[in-house]
Amino acid sequence: MCGIVGYVGSKEARSILLEGLQTLEYRGYDSAGVAVIQAGGIEVKKRAGRVADLAKELEGSTLSGTCGISHTRWATHGGVTNANAHPHTDEAREVAVVHNGVIENHAALRTTLEKEGVEFASETDTEVIAMLAARALRKVRTAKEATVAISKMVSKLTGTYGLLILSKKFPDTIFAARLGSPLLLGIAKHGYLVASDATAVSAHTDQVIYIEDGDVLAVNPKGYQFLKTERNHSVEQIEKVEMSEGLGKFTHYMQKEMYEQPASITSALRGHILKNEAIPRLSGMNITDEQAGQIDRIIFTACGTSYHAALVAEYWLEEIAGLPVEVEYASELRYRKSPVGDNTLVVAISQSGETADTLAALRELKRQGKLVRALVNVVGSSIAREAGGGLYLHAGPEIGVASTKAFTSQLAVLFLLTTYFARIRGVSKAKGKELLKELQNIPVHVKKALTYEHEIETIAERYQDVHTMLYLGRGTNYPVALEGALKLKEVSYIHAEGYPAAEMKHGPIALVDKETPSVIINPRSALYDKVMSNLEEIKARNGPVIAIATEGDRAIAKKADQVIYVPDVPDIFQPFVTVIPLQLLSYHAALARGCDVDKPRNLAKSVTVE
Ligand code: G6P
Repeated sequence: MCGIVGYVGSKEARSILLEGLQTLEYRGYDSAGVAVIQAGGIEVKKRAGRVADLAKELEGSTLSGTCGISHTRWATHGGVTNANAHPHTDEAREVAVVHNGVIENHAALRTTLEKEGVEFASETDTEVIAMLAARALRKVRTAKEATVAISKMVSKLTGTYGLLILSKKFPDTIFAARLGSPLLLGIAKHGYLVASDATAVSAHTDQVIYIEDGDVLAVNPKGYQFLKTERNHSVEQIEKVEMSEGLGKFTHYMQKEMYEQPASITSALRGHILKNEAIPRLSGMNITDEQAGQIDRIIFTACGTSYHAALVAEYWLEEIAGLPVEVEYASELRYRKSPVGDNTLVVAISQSGETADTLAALRELKRQGKLVRALVNVVGSSIAREAGGGLYLHAGPEIGVASTKAFTSQLAVLFLLTTYFARIRGVSKAKGKELLKELQNIPVHVKKALTYEHEIETIAERYQDVHTMLYLGRGTNYPVALEGALKLKEVSYIHAEGYPAAEMKHGPIALVDKETPSVIINPRSALYDKVMSNLEEIKARNGPVIAIATEGDRAIAKKADQVIYVPDVPDIFQPFVTVIPLQLLSYHAALARGCDVDKPRNLAKSVTVE
């Protein structure tokens, strides 16, 4: 988390940095700051609050210069205060530093520095780097020497960092270093940008160099110099990232992205289903059919919403393809001593492609020599680059912190994977064609599911003051229940628990009373009657029930307090449509409660710390 962007070139740095920060705000929005080199030295402006607050503060200021660095923060060490905002400097303001990542040995380093008489102004781990950098650069004379000194300095740090450093001694140079936190160099006509991701540079250039772990470099208006020249730092072209599309007719990005789902699912499928073919083309996976035939188990690893998409795929792959699947939180898998067989395929799933735990799990499995692939939305992201292949979601940028369209795009791609393995493992051509045909109809059903927004809004307003909600479902609708509960927590701050509908008897039913509503996902399926019994059990205890049901189901309307209808789709495809009302419900509950839906408190879209 945290977004960083630096600029050096022929233009004023200030507006380039602020624009860059705005595009990176999804990585954190607790505080923001800039440092620019001016005639008198390094000038720093920073404050708790959003980038817009910083921009307002800068309106009347004289901050000006063509070389600067900036930061938008998701707090790790130290509260959300002006003092803890980045950039951080040493006592004499010889250097300024912005940092994304976590320095795990900061306390020991701080103690050593304090013993030498250093006084710290913040509680952050980053300020330690500023102090060390200032000391490291004291005796150097050239930028080249400075990169060597910075390389030595960062070798004392344990943890992760994407770092930008300004030094008064080198007024037209930005120094950068990376270990574990993403960083890239954008090459524009008017100068260079160094940023956490491509969104911050795409308004200026589509030419980038991905900075690798262990790299240290110096960038000035004339060029850049990596310390490790033996590495291949080739220039790559990035896809144009359309961040400036704006909201159009929508009020929030979350709302816009929910409505983009028919299009984003179509986009995820594009190019993978060929006319008259019964097996999807997944060439990006970089696995031959022969290799695929040997695979006897899949491990999906992910976090948050991506983890829930993987849980749906577990049902699909086991039921349709007969292939055993495990789904592991990446944060657990990375440290587990779990035996992974040679015929296991590991698939990391990530919208951002930068989630620290998912990236670490992927690296660990790669280190063990396993077959590792990834399903990612952000092109060129670390996970996409480090996996041996995979599939892009092509969902376009997802800006709302609560993931919506990425989830359904992940489902679409996971269903392609399911059909592929089903066919490889002997499922008939006719069945393959039928599955792919149904899959291509999904965007139409999702569009229909979105038409119930008005009814959902009324229900959300009705329950806006509750403290807890239960989300219950079975089969593929169990992971949807988890996702619905997560959405509600994320954006409305109402506590919610997702549970397998039948399992609620073993604990959560104790929560049920007339103030605690349950969302029961029960579209017509083989398990319909069973879930109806669970619904009755809740009603028998005076719990209000909001049912998610198939259009035309009048029987459920007699039992439930409110019903939200979804289009009739075959059982296995239900998660695509049942998740839609849950997204809308959380969105409207958040609005009713006056919450900031696109930037919920304490969260960040891209979690690049452990
Ligand atoms: C954060 C986001 C979630 C997301 C999770 C995993 O917590 O707020 O919306 O599901 O990270 O992110 P990823 O980019 O790896 O899918």
